[in-house]
Amino acid sequence: MASSVTVRAPSSTANLGPGFDVFGLAVDAFFDEITLTKTKEKKVTITTKDNIPTNPNHNTAGLVIQNMIKKFRTKDGIQITIKKEVPAGFGMGSSAASAAAAALAFDKLYRLNLDDNLLVELAGFGEKASAGSVHYDNVAASVLGGFVIVRTDPLDVIKIDPPTSLRMCIAVPKLAVPKKKTKVSRGVIPKKISLSDSIINLSNAAAIVAGFMRKDPEMIGNSIRDVIVEPARQHMIPGFAKVKYNAIEAGAFGVTISGAGPSVIAFSKSSANLKKISAAMEKGFAHAKTDCLTVICKPSKGATKIR
Ligand code: HSE
Repeated sequence: MASSVTVRAPSSTANLGPGFDVFGLAVDAFFDEITLTKTKEKKVTITTKDNIPTNPNHNTAGLVIQNMIKKFRTKDGIQITIKKEVPAGFGMGSSAASAAAAALAFDKLYRLNLDDNLLVELAGFGEKASAGSVHYDNVAASVLGGFVIVRTDPLDVIKIDPPTSLRMCIAVPKLAVPKKKTKVSRGVIPKKISLSDSIINLSNAAAIVAGFMRKDPEMIGNSIRDVIVEPARQHMIPGFAKVKYNAIEAGAFGVTISGAGPSVIAFSKSSANLKKISAAMEKGFAHAKTDCLTVICKPSKGATKIR
């Protein structure tokens, strides 16, 4: 059996507007890489050149691996080497990418052949501990790739292959994000919603699924319409309304907050002028005196063993 395995897992965008905590899409904007190496000394250690916690109790990958060692009663120590590319705290599924890569790497290292739902659940353990709540949208996308629909109780993830022409422009604003950002941005969401708002969101969520089934980027983008979570969170993103307006004017089909933000994501297709959409989003942020990094990306496959 190999004594070392390396897995790469993609960034992801959660919610896609009306699919709060339910929809996820893996995107090839950024990747995290995790190498697991068996060691004789029975403990978990983390090495990295990136500025992330190296205490396994405070690190998403560390939490996933410690939990898997306990669950599968493996006897070795594990050294986790992390190359982190997904920016942490910007709504790009950063902790999920590390958690997904760690879970799959452990599965491969011990040839466990775990099924998709269990892998997602085990990767979600890291998310739960770091974000303080259970939501599998990012981890499911990062583990499985493509577009995912997450059902809970029991956890059941449905994957749909996205249209090959689907493209996203993501603007990552250079903001100082709060430490417990996801917790903070979940705190502003209304606890109760009206029936009429739930009907609008449900109809658009259903149309997004239809868009993925029909491989129709325009139907997907036009249905990125959320009247519940986006209005409650948008004040946390300086210039959001302008960024959204500009992107639509430049030809995007739909625009929303990526996950819990503050990145903003525009949905489009390969034949559109994606540079124009990105530039328009950049201008929107500039209007609010905020610099941003823009990335044009495609849907990604899920976590993959590369060595
Ligand atoms: N669905 C989650 C949220 C994703 O929007 O809070 C962030 O982790």
